[in-house]
Amino acid sequence: MKKTLKQLYKMAAAQEPIACLTAYDAAFAHWADTAGVDVILVGDSLGMVVQGQRTTLPVSLEDMVYHTQMVQRGNKQAWCIADVPFMADKNLDTVMDAAAQLLKVGQADMVKLEGGQRIVSYVQALAERGVPVCGHLGLLPQSVLKKGYQVQGTDPAQAAQLLADAQALVAAGIDLLVLECVPSELAKQITAALPIPVIGIGAGAVVNGQVLVSYDVLGLTPGRAPKFSQNFLTGRDSILAAFEAYVQAVKDKTFPTADHEVG
Ligand code: KIV
Ligand code: NA
Repeated sequence: MKKTLKQLYKMAAAQEPIACLTAYDAAFAHWADTAGVDVILVGDSLGMVVQGQRTTLPVSLEDMVYHTQMVQRGNKQAWCIADVPFMADKNLDTVMDAAAQLLKVGQADMVKLEGGQRIVSYVQALAERGVPVCGHLGLLPQSVLKKGYQVQGTDPAQAAQLLADAQALVAAGIDLLVLECVPSELAKQITAALPIPVIGIGAGAVVNGQVLVSYDVLGLTPGRAPKFSQNFLTGRDSILAAFEAYVQAVKDKTFPTADHEVG
């Protein structure tokens, strides 16, 4: 049966971790869905892992719609989040247009936007329209040219700002939050403070769910893998088995471990 937002909330309330993987095409979506992931993220990370770009910034709305369409043809049950790409959130009109394209043409279930206070009015407008919204705080890949790939929230002022941003987004109407590359203790505090499920990546174990880039889970990404990821294909003989092992590890809380923590 198709996953709903309500089911994700029930899982969080029951302390069952939410397992999420990225996918960018129908085949990956099929195997992630078959392996039992609760959520598939069509991340703009596709710019780096599929397109070979240096950052996520070159990804266009057309790219996102195209990949979301492919993913949704292969996905039967998982809740599908699609990223609003760089500068498609430059004003309210472009945000609404991006959400319309991703939901109408791409058939996504939810859109994800990076940032805090800056996007509050967009989140309000989308929420009023009945569009499910996922926030994204911590390391923001769309801001990497200015901020770098650094752990966020390491000093008290930054940590307080992150919590304030998270609360502002919740008040504006986000339904889920992705927290990327923050110290586990801070992720734990933010998760405890928010009434919505928090999905972590490089955010430790005490959150409501985990997300990884599927290419990292399969060891497909060239170069050094991020500290917070894990190759689940090692010692297994199929992509399905690797994705199943990831889902199992998230569910039984054997992933992530202290070794995956950042900051
Ligand atoms: O684009 C992406 O894959 C993401 C995850 C890293 C959360 O936004
Ligand atoms: Na992204």
